[in-house]
Amino acid sequence: VSKYDIVKLIVPNFKPAKDVGTAFAPTNIALIKYWGKRNQELNLPMTSSLSISLADHGAHTAVSLSDADTIQLNGDVVDASSAFAKRLIQFLNLFRGPGVCFNIAIQSNVPIAAGLASSACGFASIVKALNDLYQWDLNAKSLSILARLGSGSACRSLWDGFVLWHAGVLDNGMDSYGEVLEEQWPDLRVGLLLIDTQEKSIGSRAAMQRTVDTSILYRAWPQKVSHDMPLLRQAISCKNFQIMGEIAESNALAMHATMLSASPSICYTTPETLMAMQKIWRLRAQGLSVYYTQDAGPNLKLLFLQKDHDTVIAEFNDAVIINPFSG
Ligand code: DP6
Repeated sequence: VSKYDIVKLIVPNFKPAKDVGTAFAPTNIALIKYWGKRNQELNLPMTSSLSISLADHGAHTAVSLSDADTIQLNGDVVDASSAFAKRLIQFLNLFRGPGVCFNIAIQSNVPIAAGLASSACGFASIVKALNDLYQWDLNAKSLSILARLGSGSACRSLWDGFVLWHAGVLDNGMDSYGEVLEEQWPDLRVGLLLIDTQEKSIGSRAAMQRTVDTSILYRAWPQKVSHDMPLLRQAISCKNFQIMGEIAESNALAMHATMLSASPSICYTTPETLMAMQKIWRLRAQGLSVYYTQDAGPNLKLLFLQKDHDTVIAEFNDAVIINPFSG
């Protein structure tokens, strides 16, 4: 099954209905991580995952018809030979009629490639913008499946709030998509701790494949997710912040443990990351309810409640604080 087969199943036509399609998609942070694929062509995951979307932090994208494919990121033209442009153009190839070229303008307010899930909101916003350009009128579930073809985590960026990505079991992945949870948690805060915004040494795509192929600990990962998922869902439904924080932190640590045991080893944690982790653990020992999660990069995302906002800001004064339910 190829990506093209899936697009054919979902998309009704390639007839642009307007000059420009626009959309916004939020970025999302996984509390239970997606790490490892059962199908690399379709980005089908080994396990389900669960994320929180970051409200107005994400990507605004405009797709218009053009004489040649061009991409702008935050106002700058992206070199067509860059890995970023190639990946985007390959994705756009799925969605064009003969002779059609696109101009894509992405405005993102999350640091690109710093492990802040910028590809997630990028691909989700492109799919939504194409849905607008072609006036397909697809539902969020279909858009989620299309976004997954660009980047797995993008299938969770179609909604605000908590989103569960069902791993699914079908070979064609038609049962692997995001679903928004009904729970709202207005007191929940996410703090972005930017430790290093440079390009990462190895991208999450290659890193997760190397982990699946070589890590002795990877076989425990599906078990870890099966253990964590019901506990996190329970914590969300009864708003038990301590359990949510413990599960999210422990799940991220377990994911990084699978990477450390890959060959060659993958380590996104820098001395600065580790210092921040130890500070969080120290603050917790002193009674402050703050937890973290970490993705494929050195930055941490703090999890805490509104009542501790001032204390957290005093300790981490350059953290970017986001209220996921502010919309
Ligand atoms: C660590 O979605 O970027 O952020 O499907 O290969 O594009 P591809 O991978 P991607 O991986 C995200 C990994 C993660 C965890 C998560 O977001 O669940």
